[in-house]
Amino acid sequence: MIVAEACSGQDQIIAAATLLRKGGVVAFPTETVYGLGAEISQPSAVRRVFDIKKRPADLPLIVHMADVSGLEHWAREAPDQAWRLAERFWPGPLTLILRRSGRVPENVTGGQDTVGLRVPDHPVARALLTELGPERAVAAPSANRFGRISPTTAAHVKEELGEAVDMILDGGPCRVGLESTIVGFNGKTSVILRPGGIPMEELAEILGENLAGASSIMRPVRVSGSLASHYAPATPLELFCAELLWQRARELEAVGARVGVVTWSSQDLSQRRGRENKNQENKNLIHFSMPAEPVSYGRLLYASLRQWDHEGFDHLLVELPPDDSAWAAIADRLRRASSNAQVYGNIENETTT
Ligand code: TXA
Ligand code: MG
Repeated sequence: MIVAEACSGQDQIIAAATLLRKGGVVAFPTETVYGLGAEISQPSAVRRVFDIKKRPADLPLIVHMADVSGLEHWAREAPDQAWRLAERFWPGPLTLILRRSGRVPENVTGGQDTVGLRVPDHPVARALLTELGPERAVAAPSANRFGRISPTTAAHVKEELGEAVDMILDGGPCRVGLESTIVGFNGKTSVILRPGGIPMEELAEILGENLAGASSIMRPVRVSGSLASHYAPATPLELFCAELLWQRARELEAVGARVGVVTWSSQDLSQRRGRENKNQENKNLIHFSMPAEPVSYGRLLYASLRQWDHEGFDHLLVELPPDDSAWAAIADRLRRASSNAQVYGNIENETTT
């Protein structure tokens, strides 16, 4: 396995494109998360992607294209809203679910009549797709094992998939850090199937009344991210509002558990502990402060979950994000990573999202 350096140069792009054309599997950076790529006309490479991830074969892969011109090639009968979204947000963190053209092999779409299309906005991904040439595209799920946290650096990919892939292109840390927003179409209605890198307000601006409301975010059975345990760290993670968070932390601390506490609001453990437990260092309760702004929080979330997972905590207690559409993708991923989302807080449960 080759790991190409950060900001992979043209030689490495050419090597990666050659590997893909020959049926190799290449991990590459996008602005959202790292993808595990196979050229879509190579059935054995596509099969390897499913095998490496240990992903069920009926969960479709997103097809990545160099530019918007691929829309007509790989999809058919795209509605007006799809064109408007593509023109506004591509290249960018948006996946459109459209009717599949006969050129997309069935093994890529898990046998479905639709295909997920996306033009990523990362210089390495774009150079790779351009180098591959017209009429070629790359099927790429996130480069993690099924049900685990998506990688946002090349080191994450190496740690998780190691020698299983033929090459990893290193394009540095992902700018967005959360997966793309997925939009499907139902007649004149556009439906958000997965909140992601595009803010809801910006989608609403383009789609107006044709966007099904945020409260009716809907997921088809086949969106892998809709499985309850998706994006899960190994350490049990619970979500609480700030007050309950500290109460729970103290309960766990009292029984000798090692606890990581993650907040975004300014509520700081050190002040509280200072009052209650003067000068007593506490190694079992560690506080992490995340940004109070969703773009920065989203960029850090997956890398932080990995780091916290390595710290050997018995429990991770995470403050519920604000109940605000700008935080929808973060709330969605935290809910999936948590074991108590249905019990606590203002995050919608599986059946209503
Ligand atoms: O940001 C992203 O979207 C990243 C980067 C690598 O592009 N990719 C990614 O892929 O998150 P993956 O496979 O981890 O998640 C894609 C989601 C899956 O839940 C899949 O089921 C859904 O998109 N999907 C793909 N094609 C679909 C289709 N035809 N119909 C419904 N859902 C589809
Ligand atoms: Mg994934």
